[in-house]
Amino acid sequence: MARKIILDVDTGIDDSLALLYLLASPEAELLGIAATAGNVPTAQVAANTLALLDLARAGSVEVAAGAHGPLVVPLRTTEDTHGPQGLGYAELPASPRPLSDRSAARMWVELARAHPGSAIGLCTGPLTNLALALRMEPELPLLLDRLVVMGGAFNHPGNTTPTNEWNIHVDPEAAKEVFDAFSAAPPDRRPLVCALDITESIEMRPEHLVRLAEVAHSAPLERVAAGDAVDWRSAAGNPVVRYLVDAVRFYFDFHDGYDLGYLAHMHDPFAAAVALDPALARTRPATVDVELTGTLTRATTVADWAGMWGREPNADIVVGTDPAVFFERLVTRVGALARRLYPEPPS
Ligand code: BDR
Ligand code: CA
Repeated sequence: MARKIILDVDTGIDDSLALLYLLASPEAELLGIAATAGNVPTAQVAANTLALLDLARAGSVEVAAGAHGPLVVPLRTTEDTHGPQGLGYAELPASPRPLSDRSAARMWVELARAHPGSAIGLCTGPLTNLALALRMEPELPLLLDRLVVMGGAFNHPGNTTPTNEWNIHVDPEAAKEVFDAFSAAPPDRRPLVCALDITESIEMRPEHLVRLAEVAHSAPLERVAAGDAVDWRSAAGNPVVRYLVDAVRFYFDFHDGYDLGYLAHMHDPFAAAVALDPALARTRPATVDVELTGTLTRATTVADWAGMWGREPNADIVVGTDPAVFFERLVTRVGALARRLYPEPPS
């Protein structure tokens, strides 16, 4: 079944894998991509996203730039997590593709109105653009088929402060506006929330990259490892594989530096996979709100699982999945895309 997607990203290493996953999935129809400030500033997010569309030899896909920063607080970016340009050790040529002449928020509204009831919103960055779109069109929760959000941490520690997940931390006011507005969504179309509780179980490891390179028929096969020289770069014959090795190796190094092991949490591609196939996820309804005033806990997402606030659930939180099923899809789909785009020359 075709899945129309409005993607909102802060590209970002794992956002880039989410984008490649969507481009590799025959059922996904990308209606447009909103660039939001987060991992890196908006202009860099947009540049990265356009460059990735070139790498993936994608047809024309609208990319619209969003606000330069969060609704209320100053922008914080995280180049230490995603690399100086947001793509780890990878460097892609600047794209000649133009940016859309409408704002990201306007694109959200106009695409949702043009596809009433059938577009899936997929947010893998801070929720600034979506909050601005909701101010323009409060009916968005009823116009979208579904919203899928990577964000939050519930019964799980944060990755930015002891209780904050990054995307919510960057723009907590926007996150609150979104969860409040989506209280209007009917129960069968409540936002699907992929929080750290689940996305930190989605551990990519070097062997996944090796298998992806095998599927792509890329040579030489490279197994990256902790302690590889910082200035080492992939020599993979396939440009998509080369990009992935250089981008994800930075993410492995980052996680390793925090004693999490030589692995990388693939938050955003998991959310993309759930957007295309919600059956990948087991969910539990809850009422989600965002703390805006706590001195230690500002930007914490709180889930009322038991109806203690007396408010209807406004989210379905993902509480279970089989990471192996997800990685099998990621490796086979993106590997096959890489092979199709850049077939080996006949020997
Ligand atoms: C989220 O933060 C970002 O750095 C990642 O791209 C992901 O969307 C995980 O907390
Ligand atoms: Ca992201």
